Amino acid sequence: MPRLDPHSYADAAQPQADHLVWHATVDFPSRTLRCQATLDFRQPAPAATPLDLDTRDLRIQEVTNQDGQAVPFALAEPDPILGARLRLDLPAGTRAVHIDYRTAPDASALQWLEPGQTASGRSPYLYTQCQPIHARSIVPLQDTPQTRLRYEAQVTAPRPLTVLMGARRLGSYPDGAISVTHYEMPEPIAPYLFAFAVGEVARRELGPRTRVWAEEPLIEQAAWEFAETERMLATGEELFGAYDWQRYDLLVLPPSFPYGGMENPRLTFLTPSVVAGDRSAVSVIAHELAHSWTGNLVSNANAEHFWLNEGGATYAERRIVEALWGPETAALEWALGRRELDEALARQLEQGRLELTCLRTHLDGTDPDEAYSIIPYEKGALFLLALEQATGRVAFDRFLRGYIERFRFGALSTEEFVDFASAELAGAFEQINVQRWLYEPGLPPGAPAPRSSRLEAIQQLHGAAPSDAQAQGWSATEWQLYIESIPAEAGPHDLAELDRRFQLTASRNDDVAEKWLTLAVRVGYQAALPRVEEMLGRVGRMKYLRPLYRELARRPETRSQAEAWFARFGPRYHPIARHVVTGVLSTAASSSPPSPSSSPSPS
Ligand code: BES
Ligand code: ZN
Repeated sequence: MPRLDPHSYADAAQPQADHLVWHATVDFPSRTLRCQATLDFRQPAPAATPLDLDTRDLRIQEVTNQDGQAVPFALAEPDPILGARLRLDLPAGTRAVHIDYRTAPDASALQWLEPGQTASGRSPYLYTQCQPIHARSIVPLQDTPQTRLRYEAQVTAPRPLTVLMGARRLGSYPDGAISVTHYEMPEPIAPYLFAFAVGEVARRELGPRTRVWAEEPLIEQAAWEFAETERMLATGEELFGAYDWQRYDLLVLPPSFPYGGMENPRLTFLTPSVVAGDRSAVSVIAHELAHSWTGNLVSNANAEHFWLNEGGATYAERRIVEALWGPETAALEWALGRRELDEALARQLEQGRLELTCLRTHLDGTDPDEAYSIIPYEKGALFLLALEQATGRVAFDRFLRGYIERFRFGALSTEEFVDFASAELAGAFEQINVQRWLYEPGLPPGAPAPRSSRLEAIQQLHGAAPSDAQAQGWSATEWQLYIESIPAEAGPHDLAELDRRFQLTASRNDDVAEKWLTLAVRVGYQAALPRVEEMLGRVGRMKYLRPLYRELARRPETRSQAEAWFARFGPRYHPIARHVVTGVLSTAASSSPPSPSSSPSPS
């Protein structure tokens, strides 16, 4: 059985579905979707054949073929990572199958929110997060980026909720207490990009190809925050070639959304954290937009080549930032990325997970959500920067466009990348140690180091307090770099003094706030704890939850507080975030700094 992907039961020798017709009815009281999925095959099955689909927690009711005849099926015992294989026995000549099924109330791709978890507090809300392997909990399909699907969808939901999909909206038809909304996705997508949301939302136009959706209380602020989206889109096109997805809209989700952003095609999903009030977090948009080329157009073959998606998008994000806001701003973001990379490498080393510091990983038997870290982002982006520097920018930009053109609407592995790039960039490939970058742990010596005078000014402080004049012009990125440079010996008094002068505990930029509050917990600066509590209770973004809970749990003085807060706020978090925090609390507890009051852990 030629497996395409260690995280999918899809079999390369079997028919491939390349089109989906999806009908779903959203039922909030039972937290289920009642669905029919029709999968059309690229070619009719030439002979009788099994067809293996991925599912997770689906209740399969009936399977028929294009003529309405029953197709025998068997749902295997679920694997804890992959879910349950659904095997259909297709008769010769099968062109399509209809599958009637229901999703489970705890489907891993769905978060069902109570009205109290939304900004308006009036209506329930539902949204998806399918990356990396959760699409199978809402549609039975070949859940690997090596297959692409076009689709049509009809979603029935209670009025007055709006149904939004990462697809082209055809219309919405009210019918009494419900409405049926029609979408079509003409560009083929990898299954992890299947996305929809149902809630009470408002819209504002940002430009001819862009609009923002958010809950009414947030819509004005969001429209102001993201006013530059159309310019970013034009910049992306100049750098990477035509935008192939027609529209680029944004959806600001309720605060439990576990990521900063998710690049769902035509409709990027965003945490409300990005609405900082001063446009200081819009590089998240540059990043998600960059996925329109690297990730969505050219996809990683599977999670073992995730760096192609995220390293590519991070490199492309910084190019957009540089083109719009200049090389100094981009250099600061590279520097912050490098700092975060070094910390992540050290942490994986500490936990003996050296394998996860390689760009090309081996994840057979590993849940991709468990393998997630910043390493493929920042190490991957640095590798591309090293290639750029060895090639020269003009030639490298030509290479990038050629790469996107060659693999557009396809997927590739690291090995295919190496074949393509070594042919196109022969000289550069010899100059940098490609083997070491891709297949070995850690960071190669001589990795590119960004240079910027603003960065040097921060470095020269060695963590000492800046003058008012110096700090006045600092961006959120500079504040983060500065906070990261505060030496380990700093005490609560030093932080109190900084706080008095610069109101860091009250920062409206959540990236700055997280870095500051993590440091505050580490040094025992008590006055910041109410703000830690506020943040943990307000945002479900894992990038913030992870370090804050880790630091709280590491210190004997705050460990029980961390557990109490998690008990209180955990039910609001996304299930993935809840899982991550549970893991953080248990590992942090067993690797805490020695303290007379803490008894040694049994393991
Ligand atoms: N595609 C990712 C989010 C993701 C990755 C979800 C893997 C599930 C599995 C998205 O593009 C992303 O990288 N988001 C970042 C944004 C940041 C790097 C600007 C995030 O959420 O922090
Ligand atoms: Zn990304």
